[in-house]
Amino acid sequence: MLPRWIGLAVAASVVTFAATGCERRPPEREAEVQPAAAPEPQLPDTTGAVVWAYLQQVNYRQNWNTWPGKGTLYKGQEPHGALLTTYLNPLAHDALTNKAGKLSAGAIVVKENYAPDSTLAAITIMYKVAGYNAEASDWFWLKTDPNGVVDVQGRVGMCQSCHGAKKDNDYIMTASLK
Ligand code: HEC
Repeated sequence: MLPRWIGLAVAASVVTFAATGCERRPPEREAEVQPAAAPEPQLPDTTGAVVWAYLQQVNYRQNWNTWPGKGTLYKGQEPHGALLTTYLNPLAHDALTNKAGKLSAGAIVVKENYAPDSTLAAITIMYKVAGYNAEASDWFWLKTDPNGVVDVQGRVGMCQSCHGAKKDNDYIMTASLK
């Protein structure tokens, strides 16, 4: 007679064997995990500091195009800098190169304003937000110092009254959108 514990052990392994079946499947191959592309951050709300933070996050200087045909440090006029570098987010850039006539909600134009000696003096931004500003084609206006400290923001009368000279060009002064 086998000791009782061996009998139990054999019985248990028979049960286990029956339950799992005799084939042993090879372990499933893990699907290869691609590193996810960094998701585009959500568009900011109409708060100057949030817009500034967004611009740093997307790293516009690295990742956005400058105004087609303008390059960097081109000559500007009053009241903006003597030298300008203007960046367009992809939505704004597409509208411009496709001669869309208008920019759509989500478009962002960032203009860096430099003194004649090329020191950055201020940054002026136009950001179109659906339903934000019926009076001026939904533009949110923002001016900051070089460190992002907000100077003026919102539906700024001073900005939109001058840019209003180009109302039929969606308030854009630098070039025709058509
Ligand atoms: C007295 C007129 C005037 C005022 C006021 C003004 N701008 Fe402009 N803005 C211009 C002109 C002219 C240009 C074209 C660039 C250049 O040659 O300086 C321009 C260009 C721009 C651009 C590049 C996109 C475009 O329209 O061509 C942005 C962005 C901008 N301005 C933002 C602002 C903001 C924000 C304010 C208010 C804080 C402001 N501007 C106030 C005249 C003005």
